[in-house]
Amino acid sequence: MAISRIHPLFLLLLLLLRAFALLPTQAAARGGHDLSDDGDHGSVSRNLLQDKPHITEEMTRGYMSNAELETAVHAFGSRCSNISRVYSIGKSVNDFPLLVIEISDKPRQREAEPAFKFIGNVHGDEPVGREVLMHLANWLCDNYLKDPLATLIVENMHLHILPTMNPDGFALRWRGNANNIDLNRDFPDQFFSVNNDINYRQPETRAIMNWVKQEHFTASASLHGGALVANYPWDGTKDTGKRYYGCPDDKTFRHMASVYSQSHYNMSLSKEFEGGITNGALWYPIYGGMQDWNYIHGGCFELTLEISDTKWPKAAELSVIWEHNRMSMLNLLASLIKGFMEGYLQQILADLYLAQ
Ligand SMILES: *[C@@H]1O[C@H](CO)[C@@H](O)[C@H](O)[C@H]1NC(C)=O
Ligand SMILES: *[C@@H]1O[C@H](CO)[C@@H](O)[C@H](O)[C@H]1NC(C)=O
Ligand SMILES: [Zn+2]
Repeated sequence: MAISRIHPLFLLLLLLLRAFALLPTQAAARGGHDLSDDGDHGSVSRNLLQDKPHITEEMTRGYMSNAELETAVHAFGSRCSNISRVYSIGKSVNDFPLLVIEISDKPRQREAEPAFKFIGNVHGDEPVGREVLMHLANWLCDNYLKDPLATLIVENMHLHILPTMNPDGFALRWRGNANNIDLNRDFPDQFFSVNNDINYRQPETRAIMNWVKQEHFTASASLHGGALVANYPWDGTKDTGKRYYGCPDDKTFRHMASVYSQSHYNMSLSKEFEGGITNGALWYPIYGGMQDWNYIHGGCFELTLEISDTKWPKAAELSVIWEHNRMSMLNLLASLIKGFMEGYLQQILADLYLAQ
């Protein structure tokens, strides 16, 4: 877009104006909305400062380290080997493998079933998602052939779980990756061309982009912390204005976000977000985010889920947070299967009609 030809000072002014227009309650989550953050879509400040929140040893006690998470993923792979496979989609800046668990009754095989991905820990200092995703994987394994929802999911879709997209940021106890880049601002953007230089793309971002091109996901969700809300596209507006900006599939997205919110323990009771859901650009616009890129370039319906007001709740609360999100996750997956089957049925009926 023409933004690259605009005088840098004008751009800076725009960014400043936008920053001042924001409410303080928005500061926590998807963006961590401060100036350093906004700077990510101006080439001027790609590497600018990043607030390093004070994360004490005490706060992190009881959370899995990266090594422990890796062990847990492999342990899952052996324990549940006939309904899963473990594979890597690449490595982080500091060479940590980005491990994925695929869950399906026919892992590795291509089937005419929807594929869904869950991504946790996009932001290094938002670790709740990586813990909750391991709970999800283990719950599906433990309940397959016992619980109808677990069985439905294992048998009718391919679920891919990346517990951590940003292991380095987690180890560093900060938001960005090892190069201090916010990965949720590192994707090509539909309005601003600043991320178009492939040489600057972070390895974690590149891994996701290649993965999406290979797997053809139908839908997905990334997990964040710092708020409690289901966020859907678009995340940004062309003129950086903060307002409702729906994508062509707005209705479907609102449905998906509502399934999540209404199935959650208390997300839909939110005082800040009606029904516990929000359009991204209405909350606050961001650029270079993963969600919009998935929709535009992957044909994948992605939600951004904020699942905990506190970024580092006490580790003892993690299993409670998992329980609060369990039906949301399962119902979101089940609704995708239902939608897929209805479409499939319609297609069969249409074919039958044509054949007559
Ligand atoms: C997995 O293994 C168990 C026990 O051998 C078997 O009952 C079950 O049918 C297997 N499931 C699949 C999807 O292969
Ligand atoms: C939801 O429940 C959690 C845990 O009890 C609580 O901290 C949070 O404030 C609640 N949020 C809403 C919107 O009710
Ligand atoms: Zn986040």
